[in-house]
Amino acid sequence: MSTLRAAVIGLGSMGANHVRVLADTPGVELVAVADPDPERVQRAIAGRSIPGFASTSALLAESRPDFVSVVVPTGLHEEVAVACIEAGAHVLVEKPIAATLEAAARIARAAEDAGVLLTVGHIERFNPAIRELARRLREGQGGRVLQLRARRVGPFPHRIRDVGVIHDLGPHDIDIMRYLLDDEVVRVYAESRAHIATDNEDLFAGMLTFRNGAMGLLDINWLTPTKERTLTILCEKGMFTVDYAAQVLCFYENYAAAARDGVYASVTEGPMTRYPIPNREPLRVELEAFRDAILAGGPPPVPASDGMAALAIAEALVRSGQSGQPVDLAEVSRLP
Ligand SMILES: NC(=O)c1ccc[n+]([C@@H]2O[C@H](COP(=O)([O-])OP(=O)(O)OC[C@H]3O[C@@H](n4cnc5c(N)ncnc54)[C@H](O)[C@@H]3O)[C@@H](O)[C@H]2O)c1
Repeated sequence: MSTLRAAVIGLGSMGANHVRVLADTPGVELVAVADPDPERVQRAIAGRSIPGFASTSALLAESRPDFVSVVVPTGLHEEVAVACIEAGAHVLVEKPIAATLEAAARIARAAEDAGVLLTVGHIERFNPAIRELARRLREGQGGRVLQLRARRVGPFPHRIRDVGVIHDLGPHDIDIMRYLLDDEVVRVYAESRAHIATDNEDLFAGMLTFRNGAMGLLDINWLTPTKERTLTILCEKGMFTVDYAAQVLCFYENYAAAARDGVYASVTEGPMTRYPIPNREPLRVELEAFRDAILAGGPPPVPASDGMAALAIAEALVRSGQSGQPVDLAEVSRLP
């Protein structure tokens, strides 16, 4: 396997994880990092014989990486990702793909023009519990999906000031719902509130309607003193539950529907199975998938179009939360 030269730009709480993982990913050599904060640069290069830079331009000029993890605040994704792409590097841009759909489209266009791979860090797709769930759904276990419910709550992260909780956390579950259903959202409705003194929402309840009729419920906030990241998938013949952080997947059988081949005469509680899942760090699986995609010449593990769809849906949820009206999303299916 030829070795790919990797760099990380943005060395905050998530960037430090990219550095740690890329530093010992087989087939990858971490060659440089950058951040305007000298302390963060020092922390990232300590014990590693790699240079640290104060700017993207200095890193690109000196280190010529094959690919870059762009882990700067969301409002800077466009500026930094486009600079890397124009320097000929493949790019993994953290989620959400950008702060606005227009900025996301410009990043995607730049990658297309430069002929480099662009992938979006929708990390939950690489969570082993989600991969196992996706496989079981594809095989038809549970029958038709009726409703997905995601709960992603925890305390307020004081470092995030440029976007609200819908843009910061919503794309995780929006992306997972689209991915698991392989279906598109046609309408959204949301209620949102801003309780902590910022310009953006921090408490949010949203509803997604999928083309095939499945419902997605999002319960997301920064106001909860305990962290919870869970997903429930209610199907004709039973219910899956996922604890993202613990990487636990369970299935609760609906005996009545199972007996009548999915026909709802009634619903009864059947046995529960907890599947054994070998735990792996989702970021490691994600970065290995990007490495393999680069070596194979594509396609990217999570294409820009999926990042843009998640962002378009998040934007529609913000609009719905502000107006109190449902928002139709026909435009998402027309994204490139
Ligand atoms: N996939 C996930 O689960 C996940 C988790 C957390 C954050 N994120 C995403 O990662 C990105 C960063 O989030 P974070 O929580 O690490 O933020 P953070 O504030 O902790 O870190 C951002 C870093 O970027 C640096 N920076 C600012 N301007 C820069 C520039 N022009 N060039 C280089 N570096 C610059 C800052 O100094 C800081 O060190 C966001 O887009 C966020 O949505 C993803």
